[in-house]
Amino acid sequence: MWKNTRLTKLLKIKIPLIQAPMAGGITTPELVAAVSNAGGLGSLGAGMSPDEIRSAILKIKSLTNKPFSVNLFVTDTPSVSNQKINVMKKILKKNCGVYGKEVKDIKPPYTHSLDEQLSVLIEEKIPVISFTFGIPAASWIKKLKQHRITLIGTATSVPEAIYLEKKGMDIVVAQGYEAGGHRATFLDTSASNLVGNFALIPLIADCIQIPVVAAGSIMDARGIVAALTLGAEGVQMGTAFIPCKESGALPAYKKILFKSAAQNTVLTRSFSGKWARGIENKFIKAMKSFEDKILAYPAQHVITLPIRKAAAKRGDLEYFSTWAGQGANLAVEMTANKFIQWLDKNTKKILRIRTG
Ligand SMILES: Cc1cc2nc3c(=O)[nH]c(=O)nc-3n(C[C@H](O)[C@H](O)[C@H](O)COP(=O)(O)O)c2cc1C
Repeated sequence: MWKNTRLTKLLKIKIPLIQAPMAGGITTPELVAAVSNAGGLGSLGAGMSPDEIRSAILKIKSLTNKPFSVNLFVTDTPSVSNQKINVMKKILKKNCGVYGKEVKDIKPPYTHSLDEQLSVLIEEKIPVISFTFGIPAASWIKKLKQHRITLIGTATSVPEAIYLEKKGMDIVVAQGYEAGGHRATFLDTSASNLVGNFALIPLIADCIQIPVVAAGSIMDARGIVAALTLGAEGVQMGTAFIPCKESGALPAYKKILFKSAAQNTVLTRSFSGKWARGIENKFIKAMKSFEDKILAYPAQHVITLPIRKAAAKRGDLEYFSTWAGQGANLAVEMTANKFIQWLDKNTKKILRIRTG
């Protein structure tokens, strides 16, 4: 009974479960395809160049003929002075141990062209596109709709959800305070308006007509049933897919989710310039004193990238962005296919018990 929602019809999937897009190599083509083959919606985190996006899409298409989605960041190039960049360079060189020597100069535009990324998605006939940090210009939304692409926007507040519906999104992902990774916030970017899913899902479900998908610390069937009870028509799960065999996360990253350290997730701007939730580590602690020096997103992301890459090479999570939701320690280790079957079976079981 949980399977037939407006979401399953809109997305042409069997189970109303979206594997969250996770940029940075976690959502490999193998993971995306395995989720779609299992009846959910696999999503590619596509914070990469248009050519890299195309080759990932071609690989996914070789592994599944089921629908999948591609996710894009909507971001402008901020103006960041050389003086601010030099201050941040000094801070990083001094406070990142052996990785300090990796810090280099950075230059705008700091990001890939959204126009070029979207053109690839149209050419490759991607059926579903999701966005975070906002949505593209109205002219793009019109064009994507002309190509019959289903559009998903992400909201962390009621005003954002209303805005997304008004601007033509077909589905809203309600991302609670609990969620791992970057907060999608685009209207009120201060960290003062942090709404958890117990309030956010029903508030948004009551305010918009289009389907709501809940995201944030949904780790098992209990979370799925709770989200459905609160008014969501489906779920988007990120952290829960990190330990899957098909995920591209570092082995140490997969392992830490099962340790007590994973119970201590915090919001930080230190890695990218935008608020994001991850497991607290030496880098996050060291950067707390320099909060007012952090560069605007995505300049901070670009300037810290060499540090994270060098730390990743050594399997050192102390200087790496180990994004994870508050429920991270509930993670289980299975293949994506087994995991989805396990979620489906237990969701049905709980719903059967509830309805007697
Ligand atoms: C490692 C990681 C990377 C993420 N990358 C993206 C991304 O590229 N695009 C996006 O829209 N959301 C991204 N998110 C946020 C997810 O879409 C989703 O909101 C979040 O995973 C839900 O919380 P959970 O991780 O507790 O399930 C990321 C989350 C994680 C944990």
